[in-house]
Amino acid sequence: MNLILMGAPGAGKGTQSANISAKWNIPAVSTGDLLRGAIKDGTELGMKAKSFMDSGNLVPDELVINIIKEYIGSDKCKNGFILDGFPRSIPQAEALDAMGVKIDLVLSIEVSDEKIIERMSGRRICSGCGASYHILYKPTKAENICDACGASLYTRADDAAETVLNRLETYHAITEPLKEYYSKKGNLVCVTGREKVEDTSAAVLEAISKYEASKK
Ligand code: AP5
Repeated sequence: MNLILMGAPGAGKGTQSANISAKWNIPAVSTGDLLRGAIKDGTELGMKAKSFMDSGNLVPDELVINIIKEYIGSDKCKNGFILDGFPRSIPQAEALDAMGVKIDLVLSIEVSDEKIIERMSGRRICSGCGASYHILYKPTKAENICDACGASLYTRADDAAETVLNRLETYHAITEPLKEYYSKKGNLVCVTGREKVEDTSAAVLEAISKYEASKK
C-alpha cells in the first residue's frame, strides 16, 4: 500500500504514520524529519533548507522532490510506503505522478487552527530518538525524559507561536489545494483528528481497513 498522510502542521501526521507503519509493517518517511536530519548533519541540503524551515515557509520543491525520488526508489519501499508531509504543493504532487508511482490512499487528518496552536505549544521532541510527545495529550512517564530511550526532550524551533501562524497560513494557501487534486483522482479520505491520540488512531485505522476491504 502506498499512502500519503496530509494535514495541517501538528495535525498528527507523524504520530499516525508511526502507528500505521507499525501495524501494517510499511516504512514511513517524513520530509520534515529528513530535512531536520540534514540540518543536524550540516549537509548542503540542510544549509539550503534551514532558513525556510525556521521561518515556517516551505523548502523549494526541487529539493524535497529529489529526496523523495531517492527514497521511493530504494529497496525498502518495494512493498509500499507512507509519505508524511509530502507532497505539500501541486508541483510536488505532479512530480510524484511523473515518477510513475501509484498512490492508493490519501488520508487527510482534519484539525481546527485553534486546536493546532494549542497542540504545537505543548509538543516536545526527544533529542535522542526523535519520538514526539505532548505535555498534556501524550506525556512522558518522567518529566522531560523520553520513555523510549531516556534522552532529554526539546521544543522544536518552528513551534514558536509566530512561526506556527505562518506554517498554518502556508498550509491553507499551498498545501490544502491538494485535497481537491486528490479528491478528483478519487483517493482522498478525510478523517477528523480527535481529542485523544488513540481515538484518532482508531479512526485512521478504520479508514485504511475500509479502503482495503473495498479492494477485495
Ligand atoms: P514537518 O516536520 O513535516 O512539519 P509539519 O507538517 O508542520 O508537521 P509536524 O511535524 O509539525 O506535525 P505532525 O502533523 O506530524 O503532528 P505530530 O504527530 O507531531 O515540516 C517542517 C518544515 O519542513 C515545514 O514547515 C517546511 O519548511 C519543511 N518541509 C517538510 N516537508 C516539506 C515539503 N514536502 N515541501 C516543502 N517543505 C517541506 O503531532 C503534533 C503534536 O500534537 C504532538 O505533540 C502530538 O503528541 C500531539 N497530538 C497528535 N495527535 C493528537 C491528538 N489526536 N490529540 C491530541 N494531541 C495530539
